[in-house]
Amino acid sequence: MSVTTNETTGGRVRSQDSALLWLIATTMAPYWRLLSGALALLVGTAILSVVPPYLLRRAIDGPVAAGNPEGLWLLAALYAGVVLLQLVLQFGQVYLLQISGQRALADLRRRLFSHMLGQDPSFYGRHGVGELIQRLTGDIDALNALLSSSVVTILTESVTLIAVVVVMFSLNWRLALLALAVLPVLALVTRFFRRRIRRSSDAERSMIGRVGAYLNEQLNGMLLVQLFRRQPVSAEEFDKLNAGYREALMRQRKASALFLSVLELITAFALASLLYWGGRGVLAGWATLGTLVAFVQLTERAFQPVLRLSEQYNNVQVALASAERVARMLETQPDIREPAEPVPAPSVVRGEVVFDGVHFAYKPDEPVLRGIDLRIEPGQNVAVVGPTGAGKSSLAALLARFYDPQRGAVLLDGEDIRNFSLSELRKAVCVVPQDPICIAGTIAGNIRLYDSTVSDADVRRAAELANAASFIEEMPDGYETEVRPGGANLSVGQRQLLSLARAIALSPNGVLVLDEATSSIDTATEALIQDALERLLHGHTSIVIAHRLTTIRNADRILVMERGRIVEDGSHSDLLLQDGHYARLYRHRGHASGGAVGNAVRG
Ligand SMILES: Nc1ncnc2c1ncn2[C@@H]1O[C@H](COP(=O)(O)OP(=O)(O)O)[C@@H](O)[C@H]1O
Ligand SMILES: [Mg+2]
Repeated sequence: MSVTTNETTGGRVRSQDSALLWLIATTMAPYWRLLSGALALLVGTAILSVVPPYLLRRAIDGPVAAGNPEGLWLLAALYAGVVLLQLVLQFGQVYLLQISGQRALADLRRRLFSHMLGQDPSFYGRHGVGELIQRLTGDIDALNALLSSSVVTILTESVTLIAVVVVMFSLNWRLALLALAVLPVLALVTRFFRRRIRRSSDAERSMIGRVGAYLNEQLNGMLLVQLFRRQPVSAEEFDKLNAGYREALMRQRKASALFLSVLELITAFALASLLYWGGRGVLAGWATLGTLVAFVQLTERAFQPVLRLSEQYNNVQVALASAERVARMLETQPDIREPAEPVPAPSVVRGEVVFDGVHFAYKPDEPVLRGIDLRIEPGQNVAVVGPTGAGKSSLAALLARFYDPQRGAVLLDGEDIRNFSLSELRKAVCVVPQDPICIAGTIAGNIRLYDSTVSDADVRRAAELANAASFIEEMPDGYETEVRPGGANLSVGQRQLLSLARAIALSPNGVLVLDEATSSIDTATEALIQDALERLLHGHTSIVIAHRLTTIRNADRILVMERGRIVEDGSHSDLLLQDGHYARLYRHRGHASGGAVGNAVRG
């Protein structure tokens, strides 16, 4: 899943700090009670952790030194009790933190997904599916690690460190200085290794990202790899990436292991000096034996936080980078906005469609539609033809308001479509896309798209109208047959029939916009589609982006598009008389009835 992982990890995250804080604050805010409970328990745990060394000292300097076992068992019981209490508090703290953290992350995941649901097609053009899945899974997981482990560790260890230092100085300042004398060395060493570890971790993450991306590309294109006998090349390329990943991983592990050993060494050095100078101190009388033993324990306890804290450094960096990406994504606003006060769409659409001076581009300076003026009367059946890239599909996309034109307006029944609510508009204008899309689920589910107001009878009626009923009934479980991902168990033609049935079921009275599939459809299916269209389009406004002469000839009106303009407009016979693009096309291809036309209309 980590296809586009961690492009911006590593360096400190400075930009958009406020957005980041805002994201974390708004996500965690509803759970502040649980969080403050966890925090209180956390402080309690950390403070309790310095009590056992203290009790040890009391035992050694008291009953043990006095040679009198009385009172020993009380201290021992206290010792066990404190450790037990510490564990109980720790459990409570982890529990509370997990509850609040997991709820907050589930909220964030929901917030992010519903944000994505509200985005328009241009958003999905900018962000690949792999990237979006990464936002919803990998990035949220990184935040999860931050909340459930890093934050706990950082807080606990910091409080522990402070508590240990305070206790040390209150017990014996000379021993405290002795024990902590190595801290500056420790700080330097940590700094040195932190950099190395961070660099190698970044390299490792970037390598795993590249391996993931490569696998994704190769596995998705396996058919090509095998058809063109590219297996050896792929294997070799993968070997290189795999070796790079292994190297990066090794470097990272080596740096970590070395760091750990050096830390152990420094701790041992501190303990040794404590033993020597502290032992002399006991003899000289400025320290007690109990204090010395307590200091051995405390010193170990003081160095552990340093290790743990430096370990968390990377995780925090990764999580912050993830949080930043999530925050940035949550900030994107769709270009297509719902009107503040939508005009109610007419309950029965008349079906008058007007394009009024429409100019449109996906990217600035690359105009796709250059001044479209078009009036389609209610009930008119229009065929749009033209070469690939002429802007036919874009015309359809504008009518369903997947994009807004930069200039001009699209009107439905006399009203600018920007004044309708999107859901009403998309009930009134139904687009059957060129690549018919199927979702996972049953055939019936694919037709009604989980709209519970569409009854089984409606589903069947729609399938019959679309001429899809016969193939559906031949399937093993009829309407309950499972559709495999991407509609893999259906032919392109069947998928198109299914989309048609869906359009009828979900917007029975709307303007129908059909982008004919260019991929070859067998003649039988094509006849079915044609027959369904003839029945469906009767009395309904329709715009069919047509590639087949049969569809074109049956239309009331034919629009020929070229380079973003409508260059010819009229009935079949009108256009033949005009003797332009269409006539030329018809003379070339006309006699092979049913031939695909799409790319043939060239100027
Ligand atoms: N989502 C998109 N983002 C950017 N450019 C696009 C997009 N869809 C289409 N285009 C460009 O717009 C032009 C018209 O495309 P389109 O309307 O699909 O033409 P047609 O359906 O006639 O083949 C083409 O040059 C195409 O590259
Ligand atoms: Mg197209």
